[in-house]
Amino acid sequence: MALSAIQKGERFTDEETEQIRRCFLRDGYYAFGRLMEDDEVEALRADLQRKWDDPRMHEPARDQIRGTSLMRMFEYSYAFRDLIVREPFASLAEAILGDDCHCMSQNALYTPPNPKAVEDGPGGWHLDDLVHFPLPDGVPRHDPAVPPPCFVMQIFTPLTDVEAVRYGPTQVVPGSHFAGRQPQEQDRPTFDGRDPHSFLVRKGDAYMFNNQVWHRGSPNASDRTRLMAGVTYSKRFIAQKLYPFIDYRMPDHVWAEASPRLQRMLGRHSKGAYG
Ligand SMILES: [Fe+2]
Repeated sequence: MALSAIQKGERFTDEETEQIRRCFLRDGYYAFGRLMEDDEVEALRADLQRKWDDPRMHEPARDQIRGTSLMRMFEYSYAFRDLIVREPFASLAEAILGDDCHCMSQNALYTPPNPKAVEDGPGGWHLDDLVHFPLPDGVPRHDPAVPPPCFVMQIFTPLTDVEAVRYGPTQVVPGSHFAGRQPQEQDRPTFDGRDPHSFLVRKGDAYMFNNQVWHRGSPNASDRTRLMAGVTYSKRFIAQKLYPFIDYRMPDHVWAEASPRLQRMLGRHSKGAYG
């Protein structure tokens, strides 16, 4: 078993975890500041670059989406795999999604500079997959006192500095997971009077967001490729999204010597509802 540079990390105290969970349910996101060590970032960066440099990854049927999102990173990198159970991410995912949550997917983002990009220009705003709790026209939002449960959350650990808007930060519209609909506007959308928030970060920082919050990777109008590692966690009842789905078989090397917790995160569940 190869050793990865990823550390165990430290979980937050129960009080801190609860406070973060509340902020996350209210705002739809949370920024941690710096959590990762330099050698962890470098291990993830090197593995991401190695995968990007493999020409096979750029064939249409291979492990990428739109050419810039590289799928199932845990298969190719022990650093990415071990990121799934690094603290405080794993315990926060369990606090928000339940003790039987899992890694739904693990895509890394490789975003080269775009010469046509306009800094903070319009476009790209979305929520992931579908609206979980849609509202009819005429009902402007969910009741703040009754936050919809979070089913899917994304943690990002940037591997390059994204310290200004021109470098293409992730942006979110605070509170928009209460909207019950897709963003209606593609140029600086707001929700309940709140403007977009840019995660201006250094490599080694981390942040997370509810997949129902309106968000985007803003245009990369710099000359620096933007690299993002992370993990997508979901509740157990949200199926893992491991392409090619019915034909997917997780290679033994991924789970063979992994801890019980990591194996569960990878999908080795106890019996439960439906199966
Ligand atoms: Fe997204």
